[in-house]
Amino acid sequence: MIKSQLSDISSPIKTELECFNDLFKKSLRSSVGLVDLVTRFILKQKGKKIRPLLVLLSAKVAGGVNERTYRGAILVELLHTATLVHDDVVDNADKRRGLPSINAIWKNKIAVLMGDYLLARGLMIAINGKDFDFLGIVTDAVKRMSEGELLQINKTRKLDIDEDTYFRIISDKTASLLATCCEIGAVSATEDSRLHASMRKFGEYIGIAFQIRDDILDYVGTSSIIGKPLGGDIKEKKITLPLIYALKQASPAEASSILKMIKKGSKNDGVKKVIDFVKRHRGIEYAIETAHSYSERAKELLDQFPDSEGKLALLALVDFIIDRKN
Ligand code: IPE
Ligand code: MG
Ligand code: MG
Repeated sequence: MIKSQLSDISSPIKTELECFNDLFKKSLRSSVGLVDLVTRFILKQKGKKIRPLLVLLSAKVAGGVNERTYRGAILVELLHTATLVHDDVVDNADKRRGLPSINAIWKNKIAVLMGDYLLARGLMIAINGKDFDFLGIVTDAVKRMSEGELLQINKTRKLDIDEDTYFRIISDKTASLLATCCEIGAVSATEDSRLHASMRKFGEYIGIAFQIRDDILDYVGTSSIIGKPLGGDIKEKKITLPLIYALKQASPAEASSILKMIKKGSKNDGVKKVIDFVKRHRGIEYAIETAHSYSERAKELLDQFPDSEGKLALLALVDFIIDRKN
């Protein structure tokens, strides 16, 4: 199979994406100098724009892109950007998308306020467009994303995470927003509520696969490509699927010595040992297989939509998500 680049995948929707990029830029303008300075920097950090792409493609597959679809796409990208800005404060991260994070340049105070600002701008776009149905969908995602992060912090402190808890965390913190993207796309394009539900489920499954891939990249990625350092999760004591599986496979003695090492706070040497441990117990393979099974379930959900260029793009996007390098 030929692996697609994101630019190939989005080619059937190129004009719509350009239109989105234009509107997104405009949505970030502000007459407050500092706000404008920070948002101009945010526009330089090149994100993959997977969420707006999902909104646009879901709409295209469910009936067609219209004005409401664009507002939905801007809303989710603003919300996503807000959560990344806040996430870097929470994790004290100094890099994002290969550039310094907002908190690294302007400090936490400004990063927290900018995150709030971006969220408010997103919600305002929906309110001004009278897209009240979007607001219900999106605020539920915002709530779940915060809950997921808080549950993760809680578990991180205790280091006692099993697979069920892991899936609950990633479903809340990541999949909820991807589900929202697909649902909003469908809602903007058709009245058929069964199609809304299917698209939402599709987004949920690819969201889970997306986060598993993200967690794998922390073990096998290339930091210059990911845009942030490797092993960040281990340093933050975050126990993700590859490690959960490895801990289950290892002897109790080995597992507890690894956990002790993580608890102590691992510097480079410790991080390398944890990565080796996970690889030795086939944690990466297991996580790859799991992501794969979710992506297959996602693809099956598209059967009920008519074949089209847009549907092929959506299917290619699923493959991209589980193979992505950043
Ligand atoms: C990063 O999302 C946050 C997670 C949910 C893992 P992306 O990998 O889509 O971030 P950008 O927008 O491309 O930078
Ligand atoms: Mg984080
Ligand atoms: Mg990560």
